[in-house]
Amino acid sequence: MTGQIIGTGACVPEKVINNQELEGLVETSDAWIQERTGIERRHIAVKETTVSMAAKAASEALKEAELPPEQIDLILVSTMSPEEIMPCTACKVQREIGASRAVCFDLSAACSGFVMAYVTACAYIEAGIFQNILVIGSECLSNVTDWSDRGTCILFGDGAGAAVLTAAEETKYLPSIYSDGSRGGALTLKSRQNHNPFGKEAPAGDEGTSYYIEMDGQAIFKFAVRSIPQAVEEVLRKNHLHKSDIRYYVLHQANERIVEAVAKRLGEPAYKFPMNMKEYGNTSSASIPLLIHEMKEKNMLHSGDRLVLAGFGGGLTWGTAIITWK
Ligand code: COA
Repeated sequence: MTGQIIGTGACVPEKVINNQELEGLVETSDAWIQERTGIERRHIAVKETTVSMAAKAASEALKEAELPPEQIDLILVSTMSPEEIMPCTACKVQREIGASRAVCFDLSAACSGFVMAYVTACAYIEAGIFQNILVIGSECLSNVTDWSDRGTCILFGDGAGAAVLTAAEETKYLPSIYSDGSRGGALTLKSRQNHNPFGKEAPAGDEGTSYYIEMDGQAIFKFAVRSIPQAVEEVLRKNHLHKSDIRYYVLHQANERIVEAVAKRLGEPAYKFPMNMKEYGNTSSASIPLLIHEMKEKNMLHSGDRLVLAGFGGGLTWGTAIITWK
């Protein structure tokens, strides 16, 4: 018994910003961005929010699953760009879609968030605690992007992806998930610190300061291309599977060169590594469910296909999980 995906959905903002439009904001070029990242454009929220995109993706996934919202036991949202810290995004999605019976909470594991949330959902199902779970990755990264920093602003985009998991008599696969807090400084998004009356001062200049994603791009690049092939090999080994058993590797869509380097290190052909960052940029925890949804819409997924999901990002966090398509 484990969780099986029976419905997927996606939502991206209407407004599309191409690389040329960023040339007016920072010293960069379409050619540089495409060559170094594979990104051509990204969707940027104007009217949309982390909650509205999550709710739209969730409703689409529920429709395909043919499940009324009242039958959802748990809503698990992965996000690092919530509208508010409290109430959590999952509770707001519950209100939007009318999933009145659901337990709701958010999970924060940056760009590994969807894999961590998927693994968490499967663990609840395997433990017999919940039957139907909505797992969502939703990000409004444009709210936390420093639009004057060319090292990061060219990378990110907004969007949401959702999957409905239900308890099914399917093979249970062990995940390979990891964290290394000692290297967390390479990719950060700080929040504001207030003073307290017991001696803690707010950091100098903190008043009114906004915080943005900061990144050591090269360190993250090296981390991803070393850790993901190892995590893929490990998840295959512990589940007694071989590369030939895997139809697709669905990697977090951060950078085309990272995906290509992982494929090369694994000795696997490029066609097994679908990509869509060209259209959306890096949407953090939304990227994997967005890509799965797109693959489904393009009829690339067939019953029994085994996929390896692989996430990596801030924390540092990374990991792999295997799913069998319905
Ligand atoms: N446009 C034009 N030039 C840029 C630029 C931009 N947007 N950003 C940086 N540069 C410049 C640098 O200043 C540097 O110039 P210099 O040689 O004169 O000093 C040069 O380009 C090379 O910079 P470097 O940082 O070495 O580029 P890179 O090849 O490492 O590419 C990233 C930068 C960010 C694209 C790359 O490191 C990367 O993709 N890292 C992983 C990021 C990621 O995926 N993060 C999220 C993980 S969840």
